[in-house]
Amino acid sequence: MGKDKLRRWAELLTMERVFQPDEKIITEEFRIKGNWHADVFKNNNPIVLELGCGKGEYTVNLAQHFGNKNFIGIDIKGARLWRGAKTINENKIMNAAFLRTRVEFIEQCFAENEVSEIWITFPDPQPGNAREHKRLTHSSFIERYFKFLSSTGIIHLKTDDLPFFEYSVESLSKYKGVFIELTKDLYNDITDNEILNIKTFYEKRWLAEGKKINYLQFQFQR
Ligand SMILES: C[S@@+](CC[C@H](N)C(=O)[O-])C[C@H]1O[C@@H](n2cnc3c(N)ncnc32)[C@H](O)[C@@H]1O
Repeated sequence: MGKDKLRRWAELLTMERVFQPDEKIITEEFRIKGNWHADVFKNNNPIVLELGCGKGEYTVNLAQHFGNKNFIGIDIKGARLWRGAKTINENKIMNAAFLRTRVEFIEQCFAENEVSEIWITFPDPQPGNAREHKRLTHSSFIERYFKFLSSTGIIHLKTDDLPFFEYSVESLSKYKGVFIELTKDLYNDITDNEILNIKTFYEKRWLAEGKKINYLQFQFQR
């Protein structure tokens, strides 16, 4: 175990607006479920999640851009999430928080209608039939999101992986809703969007390799 990782894990425990449910999350609801507005953000503004946030570039940047919304970055890897958590604490970005857990347990963390938008930024593509159920846009995950996402909630997906993107389009197409944006070459097709121009750690790596970025925005109409 690297010393740096241990130091970051220790520091995470001391940070405000960083939540790390223990293993009870597998069977029990997290204590903040249903109380994010009142207990954490102290306002009633919409809550937006970033799933598999890594270092949390979207969570931090969106929070700085949209003061009238709250943002929660979620990832299982504490040493990565530490980067975003450090930034929100140092810069007193009060409308952002981080939650360290597996997305598999997300319904234990949020109550009905508590969330209005989800960003999925460069998720692990989980190739092959045996891993299909692990994809964050698999129907089993979408059904989990439905438990807390508002009826006209929005999903944004950014990925370099074309098969994953096409899989996600097919998966989402089974639900009632509309694709507000759909592009297989984001930076060629949409040139003037400050939000879509935010680049994550992994995104920068894929762009340097010359890969194209796929993006979709889907709004459910349930
Ligand atoms: C390829 S990285 C992308 C990170 C970041 N969004 C970026 O673009 O730089 C995928 C991230 O998803 C996280 N992740 C993958 N599956 C997860 C799951 N089931 N629950 C929570 N985090 C997960 C990993 O820990 C990793 O940080």
